[in-house]
Amino acid sequence: MELQERLEKNCIRVRGGKALHGSVKPDGAKNSALIQLAALALVENNFVTLRNVPPITDVDDSIKMLEEVGFHVKKHEDEVTVTGALQSTSFSSEYGSKIRASLAFLGSVISRKGEIKLPLPGGDKIGPRPIDIHIAILNTFGVKTVVEDDFLYCKADLPLKGASAVLRYPSVLATVNGILLGVLAEGRTELYNVAKEPEIVDLTNLLSKMGADIRGVGTDRIVIHGVKVLKSTYHEVMPDRLEAAALIMALVASGGSGTIEQTIPEHNTPLLNLLKHTGVTHKIEGDKIHIIKSECFRGFHAEARPYPALATDIQPLIAPLALKCPGISKIVDTVHHERFSHVDELKKIGAEVDRIDNAAYINGNRTLNSGTVAGHDIRSVVSLINAALIYDEEILIYGLEHLNRGHKHFIDKLNRLGADIEMI
Ligand code: EPU
Repeated sequence: MELQERLEKNCIRVRGGKALHGSVKPDGAKNSALIQLAALALVENNFVTLRNVPPITDVDDSIKMLEEVGFHVKKHEDEVTVTGALQSTSFSSEYGSKIRASLAFLGSVISRKGEIKLPLPGGDKIGPRPIDIHIAILNTFGVKTVVEDDFLYCKADLPLKGASAVLRYPSVLATVNGILLGVLAEGRTELYNVAKEPEIVDLTNLLSKMGADIRGVGTDRIVIHGVKVLKSTYHEVMPDRLEAAALIMALVASGGSGTIEQTIPEHNTPLLNLLKHTGVTHKIEGDKIHIIKSECFRGFHAEARPYPALATDIQPLIAPLALKCPGISKIVDTVHHERFSHVDELKKIGAEVDRIDNAAYINGNRTLNSGTVAGHDIRSVVSLINAALIYDEEILIYGLEHLNRGHKHFIDKLNRLGADIEMI
């Protein structure tokens, strides 16, 4: 059995202290693929093929959701083709309650059928994740909403009418819902204070190929002119900027050097600037990021905020950098204030960390000991693995089922770069 196939039931032993070297490429972006699959509930008697879809369990759950409401989905390697049309608007809790991106089915299904029954979403346990901004956008489009017994019920008269909405906060998935509601709505939709994440741009690239008329993406204001018909198309999901960041940080944590290939370097500008500040040198060449030297000589202050700032999903990945940098580093998360379960685990094996409000202060002058830790969400597992790469110790890590939700081949990739990680 392949190492990766056994991850769900096992824990791994990381023997760190070995500098990683070589070239590696990230898979397709999880958060792009998930919102695009949800958007494909807009398909009606045509087809859409997505390529570069990552082989992760969150994708499997999204595909199951499409099948639950009547679509035919064909998956071959990294290619997923969706055909058919919505036969039902009612989702069971089996798949939709496991992932947060299930929320994006609100926009596509309501646009087509004017109703939905959707389980309240799941996803990473990284503090409170309310859905009030989604409800506010739905209401702006005239959609009535009720939450009952862990399901969200929505109803609207079709055709939807274009609307104007100002988001209270630039929520990623609420922006997705605003876009999906506007694509087929009659007339003009204007969305203000929207998210500008690359995953939103990638979604609208797909929708534009399908015939949607969407402008202003990547700025604070998106304008959509509703269309009547969407057409068949092909689309390649963008490379995962978060897996690229995870691989960069693995090279850096291990004290190694190497190249992240087939990525979009600009998506990781805030991380690369932070690394430069601490002393890590890199070079960008086309779609490659070369990490040249991983010696850190300066602590830092980093703050996660909505794109184009440092991503909250990357915030846990920089704790290993703080462990390597001399002095006290301060890491703040303004998006998910409680996303620090990884530092509580690192403390169990010797890290010196103070938590105050939405900040962690990490003392880089301490080393970690051998021991056992557990990740509680995708990014915290990656953070723990990368931290374990720093030290010449044996560290056992549980929680790998979370890793499979976001990065199927992460461990294999690290081992190919020279890491010593094995199942036990
Ligand atoms: N928020 C509200 N009300 C809402 C929606 C959001 O208060 O109705 C708050 C959240 O509690 C959070 C902030 O707004 O404090 C930002 O949340 P956002 O809605 O932007 O997050 P999301 O759309 O639910 C996506 C990603 C997350 C990523 C966040 C922030 C997907 C499937 N998930 O979630 O990814 O952390 O954006 O960038 O796209 C991950 O991949 O590890 C992950 C958790």
